[in-house]
Amino acid sequence: MTTIRPIVIGNWKMHGTSAYLAEVAALADWLAGEGADAGADVMICPPATLLSRLADKVAGTRIGVGGQDCHAAAQGAHTGDISAAMLKDAGASAVILGHSERRADHGERDRDVRAKSAAAHGEGLTAIICIGETQGQRELGLTLKVLSRQLEGSLPQACTAQNTIVAYEPVWAIGTGLTPTTDDVAAAHAHIRGELNRLVGLPAGDMRILYGGSVKPANAGELMAVANVDGALVGGASLKFADFSGIVAAYKGARVISPAAGQFGG
Ligand code: PGA
Repeated sequence: MTTIRPIVIGNWKMHGTSAYLAEVAALADWLAGEGADAGADVMICPPATLLSRLADKVAGTRIGVGGQDCHAAAQGAHTGDISAAMLKDAGASAVILGHSERRADHGERDRDVRAKSAAAHGEGLTAIICIGETQGQRELGLTLKVLSRQLEGSLPQACTAQNTIVAYEPVWAIGTGLTPTTDDVAAAHAHIRGELNRLVGLPAGDMRILYGGSVKPANAGELMAVANVDGALVGGASLKFADFSGIVAAYKGARVISPAAGQFGG
């Protein structure tokens, strides 16, 4: 398994009311008890409406809190948007940026993701930058080219292993129950590792590269054991304690030796 301290991040997307906070309380209890030897950081990215309540709830536990998007500007006339400073003020330590749903629903381009990531860094938030090919691009054999282009366009200046996480999420695997083969995941993650070394150089060091797309307890062990997979970005299965803890349990007993340890607690 990986030598970088992994992280399992739950992306609640547009799901979750205050009732969901009970799932988080159960997760915190599990991490303090039966799951205490899970060698991974854990984070939940709820809808913005729940951020501060969730942050209060998990204070003092191993669970970190992140946002799902931020605006590139520090403030201004942008109705409905949220700045990186607001996320931080609400208790977030990270923010997901460039998720394929935002790229598709809101027309976000790589340069937007880069600007948002820079804004996140400016506030001391970790940018969780999402990349991934569509089914059509995959069928045309363009996967690695697309990943290179997205990385090159989306990574901001001065990204480091401490302030940036890359999430590889094949668009066709998100919410579909489909996953790439472990060989395909290995090839994509090795390519991303190489590109990070090329584009960022030394500061990329042990930057975490997460896999996302239909991760569940049944496939987490296999996927998380692939070389250069340093954790998971989990959508649907992060909404239920039993499923999410089942994924974190892939790291039970895992030895942790990374300098990134403790970035979000744990
Ligand atoms: P999924 O979503 O786990 O529901 O496939 C993953 C994601 O979009 O981050």
